[in-house]
Amino acid sequence: MDNIEKINQLIRLRAKAMEGGGEKRIASQHAKGKYTARERINMLLDDGSFEEYDMFVEHQCVDFGMEKTHYLGDGVITGHGTIDGRLVYVYSQDFTVFGGSLSETFAKKICKVMDMAMKMGAPIIGINDSGGARIQEGVNSLAGYAEIFQRNIMASGVIPQFSAIFGPCAGGAVYSPALTDIVIMSNETSYMFVTGPKVTKTVTGEDISVEDLGGANVHASKSGLVHFRADDEDEGIMLLRKLLEYFPQNNLEEPVQTVCHDPIDRVDDLLNEIIPENPNQPYDVKDIVYTLVDNQEFLEYQMRYARNIVCGWAKLNGMPVGIVANQSNYLAGVLDINASRKAARFVRLCDAFNIPLLTLVDVPGFLPGSQQEHGGIIIHGAKLLFAYGEATVPKVTVTLRKSYGGAHDVMSSKQLRGDINYAWPTAEIAVMGAKGAIEILEAKAMRDLSPEEKAGFIREKENEYNAKLANPYQAAKKGYIDDVIEPRNTRFRIIRAFRTLMTKKDVNPPKKHANIPL
Ligand code: HXC
Repeated sequence: MDNIEKINQLIRLRAKAMEGGGEKRIASQHAKGKYTARERINMLLDDGSFEEYDMFVEHQCVDFGMEKTHYLGDGVITGHGTIDGRLVYVYSQDFTVFGGSLSETFAKKICKVMDMAMKMGAPIIGINDSGGARIQEGVNSLAGYAEIFQRNIMASGVIPQFSAIFGPCAGGAVYSPALTDIVIMSNETSYMFVTGPKVTKTVTGEDISVEDLGGANVHASKSGLVHFRADDEDEGIMLLRKLLEYFPQNNLEEPVQTVCHDPIDRVDDLLNEIIPENPNQPYDVKDIVYTLVDNQEFLEYQMRYARNIVCGWAKLNGMPVGIVANQSNYLAGVLDINASRKAARFVRLCDAFNIPLLTLVDVPGFLPGSQQEHGGIIIHGAKLLFAYGEATVPKVTVTLRKSYGGAHDVMSSKQLRGDINYAWPTAEIAVMGAKGAIEILEAKAMRDLSPEEKAGFIREKENEYNAKLANPYQAAKKGYIDDVIEPRNTRFRIIRAFRTLMTKKDVNPPKKHANIPL
């Protein structure tokens, strides 16, 4: 073979690898409304930036006739490229080759790019579309998964790990995405479960569809596994690119600051009126978020799960921040099990990657009742408390209205190393609301009153209580609140606060790891 022939051989082999499982299977993939593994990578990365590794890798299996069937690349496409000029490592499972199932060599390819991502301190993005363990390879496939899991664990909190689920993801395969920072699922074309509908039916008798058991809607609204439910793959890929804007390359870097054209001293008079006069009337805290942040851009995390707490990313004067806000509009913004779990993971994610935290507080307390108590609200509430207390990133808190009881302490209070804590004049910072307090404090005094007398008495006491305790000044007097600010100026005040905090240094004592209540 002369040199020209050798080069032609390379060109032929490359073309072969590009074919994946062949035209028919690619057509079938498209017919399901799915892109191929390569199309996904091309959409995700900056044009022409993808460099592929291990294109010529083949599986080593010689059982069940596998020795007769080989595809170059063995069902997963791996390599690196850039997103907005930033280096990222990727792998994309190719359903057209053995259903994207994971073999020993397939796993090795993924591990190689994970190792490189760690060495280079760059994010890793995995696109999942797979029938799970390659059945013909038996335990080699299980070992391959475990190699990936171990790397996911080591990379956690070091480099951002994002997962997109654009097809089947079942059995133990679900645990790699579950170990990553962000999970995105495409609606109607993907599912995740440990055990599918058939086995579920056999073991438990329950009859349930794939979609109802593990579709994107279920995971986005019920299990809390998924952070973003994308309408389709295009949206999913757009989200992967967008998310990166808020993350640094790794835990030793700061998130990327961009130029901001939205005036930092923009005042919004509407904020002076947004809190209703009636303390029981709700409002949409997202209206406040949108007006505070640059260009009204807010990327909401888990928007369909535990809607009583809003989490997400935005920029303030071009600096990425994570925002946590009690949602008055949904269950009065109460903290329950799911809200605590959601916000705790979000706070830890931001802290791990040096993303400062803005907390907007309007919380009536923890949700009472046996369902919550027996479900472990103490453990789950403690997660959020722990997450805030352990976070060393700059933390700015604004109390908008209610901040009662234990929930007050939890929501980035001064004593949990809140750096700058502001309150609006409408804030009510106290042990509990007036009604509850009067029921306890005045029980004796009310014992012999008629219903009418009692109503009048409660009204009078409520006014007294509110004037004395349900305001920001009790806390401000003690320095628990650094300043009471006019709502319309909030954008400027929080931007200035974060700017001051840019050089903040705070550390936790050396330890193997903490023992967060799980
Ligand atoms: C080998 C597989 C495969 C697998 C699919 N294929 N799954 N090959 N191992 N796990 C092959 C099929 O033989 C077929 O090959 C091609 O991929 C496409 O599969 P279809 O069944 O035709 O596609 P579809 O109808 O879309 O169904 C997709 C599917 C189904 C729902 C994923 O294939 C399926 O149920 N597969 C088995 C899933 C499973 O039980 N996996 C093991 C889970 S346990 P041809 O040549 O016809 O194109 C597990 C443990 C992990 O993963 C543990 C980690 C700790």
